[in-house]
Amino acid sequence: MQRVFSGIQPSGVPTLGNYLGAIRNWVPLQEDHDCLFCVVDMHAITVWQDPKLLAQQTREMAAALLACGLDPRKCALFVQSHVRAHAQLAWIFTCVARIGWLNRMTQFKDKAGKDREAASAGLYVYPCLMAADILAYHATRVPVGEDQKQHLELANDIAQKFNHDYGVDFFPQIEPLIQGVAARVMSLRDGTRKMSKSDPSDQSRINLTDDPDTIALKIRRAKTDPLPLPEHVSGLEGRPEARNLVGILAAITDTLPENVLREHGGKGFAQFKEVLAEALIAHLSPIAAEIRRLLADPHAIDAVLHAGAERARAIADPIVARTQEIVGF
Ligand code: ADP
Ligand code: NA
Repeated sequence: MQRVFSGIQPSGVPTLGNYLGAIRNWVPLQEDHDCLFCVVDMHAITVWQDPKLLAQQTREMAAALLACGLDPRKCALFVQSHVRAHAQLAWIFTCVARIGWLNRMTQFKDKAGKDREAASAGLYVYPCLMAADILAYHATRVPVGEDQKQHLELANDIAQKFNHDYGVDFFPQIEPLIQGVAARVMSLRDGTRKMSKSDPSDQSRINLTDDPDTIALKIRRAKTDPLPLPEHVSGLEGRPEARNLVGILAAITDTLPENVLREHGGKGFAQFKEVLAEALIAHLSPIAAEIRRLLADPHAIDAVLHAGAERARAIADPIVARTQEIVGF
């Protein structure tokens, strides 16, 4: 059985982007893969997190993952900082990675913004920790959104250089699993930026905990252009907002953008947005209700995470012990 690893930051409430680009695609993998799913709190602190809020968001993220269909009987669901293998391997990988490689990471440039000197060193070496997250389990399949592809390539470079430098064949190569038609969901306020839970504007995203009125309002206010919807996908060229909304409806109704346009091409956005909001509400309301139900019993969530960390440690500890031996520790 192939081993799968994927992680998500508890840096806010999970969004529709996280759901369509990641979480939803994790659920079927549990059936025929050895899956580890991780709430990556160590990644979250690469930018400032209020400690109380971080603890709360970590539990909320776990609740959201369970509500979306992750089943602790079929996967290991745990918190990154509970398993020390991540930190141990990350340091070794930070010493394997080259500064030149990290300098090419576009996500650092995006997240650090203009004042790069003021960004945390953690944000800069973040891909080394991500490589450790995966390789501590010798996982070979990593479901990610398209935005993480470059980091996976870097993880493969690290694995290869480690093997080469130490003359071993220890770390495997990783394959990204990029799934789904809306592999990249964009902000509702700016069709050229990805929807993100850490975006300062709440209007830019749909949260999995949003109630129906909030969803309807955010979709109604979503940025669009004045033209009607095109009849064919070629007509979405140069219209990022239209492309995004069509992609979201296609993804949430399990179809392709061309089918959405066959049905709705020629309509204005006011009408289309009503259809979209209705589809989103139908799909997301049960998830929001389940998140609320789970959060009413925080001890039960903590118990799931505790058991998940034990399973994770049983896999990672021997791999890290062997790595340390190879290095000469
Ligand atoms: P965020 O930017 O919302 O904080 P993370 O960095 O925690 O998201 O990413 C968690 C997972 O969700 C990753 O697999 C990432 O590829 C995916 N993801 C995040 N944002 C989007 C998006 N807008 N569209 C598709 N997938 C996304
Ligand atoms: Na990320």
